[in-house]
Amino acid sequence: MPNSLPEPLRVGILGAGRIAQVAHLPAILHSRSAELIGVHDPSAFLRDGVARLYETTSYGSLHALLDDPRIEAVVIAAPDRFHASATIECLRAGKHVLVEKPLASTLAESETVVQAMRDTGLVVQVGAMKRHDPGVRFAARATRERIGRIQSASLWYRVMGSLRPSTEATYFPRVLVDPAVRTRENAHRANREAYLLATHGAHMFDTLRNFCGTPTSIMARHTEVNSDHVWHGMATLNDNGLAHFEIIVDVHAEWSEGLTLFGERGSITVRTPFPVTLQASCVEVFDEATRITERPVFGDTNPYKLQLDAFAHAVRTGAPAEPDAFDGLEAVRLIEATKVSTDAGGVWIETS
Ligand SMILES: NC(=O)c1ccc[n+]([C@@H]2O[C@H](COP(=O)([O-])OP(=O)(O)OC[C@H]3O[C@@H](n4cnc5c(N)ncnc54)[C@H](O)[C@@H]3O)[C@@H](O)[C@H]2O)c1
Repeated sequence: MPNSLPEPLRVGILGAGRIAQVAHLPAILHSRSAELIGVHDPSAFLRDGVARLYETTSYGSLHALLDDPRIEAVVIAAPDRFHASATIECLRAGKHVLVEKPLASTLAESETVVQAMRDTGLVVQVGAMKRHDPGVRFAARATRERIGRIQSASLWYRVMGSLRPSTEATYFPRVLVDPAVRTRENAHRANREAYLLATHGAHMFDTLRNFCGTPTSIMARHTEVNSDHVWHGMATLNDNGLAHFEIIVDVHAEWSEGLTLFGERGSITVRTPFPVTLQASCVEVFDEATRITERPVFGDTNPYKLQLDAFAHAVRTGAPAEPDAFDGLEAVRLIEATKVSTDAGGVWIETS
């Protein structure tokens, strides 16, 4: 029987650090929709080491990677501060881009990426991979189609900044580390409040928009207890509802991430596991009409593989990327609004 699957998307990886090794490279190996062509990292130790492990090409520069005509798309797993410039460079070289979250470090940079996406007509997908968790997908659809307008939403993201050794030992593949890269990147994360809000807010605010739409305004307070950071905030929703969000890093408890929505005709709860367990979120959908609570079970659940499949599908078919650069920009807008609000002691900021 002829194979009706589209040709695998030929992918290069930019940045061979932790998330590339833990999530993106294994996802490419598992996926039938993508094929690894090569990798570039400024660290020769990492790019050569990863290329050896994955039996692929090591490029000495981004230009060398972009000059390879076999490469159709680039997965950008470099630090946040390079996301915008690298995305634009890849687009100008005619490559589609899956860029890790956040889309960019600032709203102004995000706008340049959205413009480049529109100018080139190429696909830009942001690595907010939770949208591809089948539990989240099911719940987001049920939110749109079954529970009516949202009256009240509560979202929580209570996580560890660095993982416990036992968690890494259980779930992570062997990860190559270049100590010089680690030292340099830790120095860039020295402003812990700004770093944590950007890196975790990118997920929180993408989830908020995915379920509740773009809020019209937002306010937040921030506090620091020892070196742990806590944000509590509120958002006004388009249909008059209200949302509350909470981010804690480090939490001295199990990883805990999720949301509860109360709508006109039902309610939804989503509990999302620590991402590298590669399991789907646990979802409960209560429908007031039937008074039945549904708890679906899912099969293929690796969100990093599923986001790659969706990216390849968007490139091959022209289907919309999810989330795209515009969604990435809106998440950065909410991160910046949160910062403005907390700096002013919790004032409301218009966001749409
Ligand atoms: N979606 C998720 O679940 C998730 C999880 C963790 C990290 N991330 C994101 O992934 C990105 C990378 O995070 P990480 O934890 O892997 O960091 P990391 O520091 O472990 O890896 C980043 C790598 O990029 C390389 N690099 C530095 N400058 C570069 C450049 N100009 N071009 C290409 N590569 C360059 C570094 O040498 C390093 O090897 C961040 O943007 C982060 O927010 C996403």
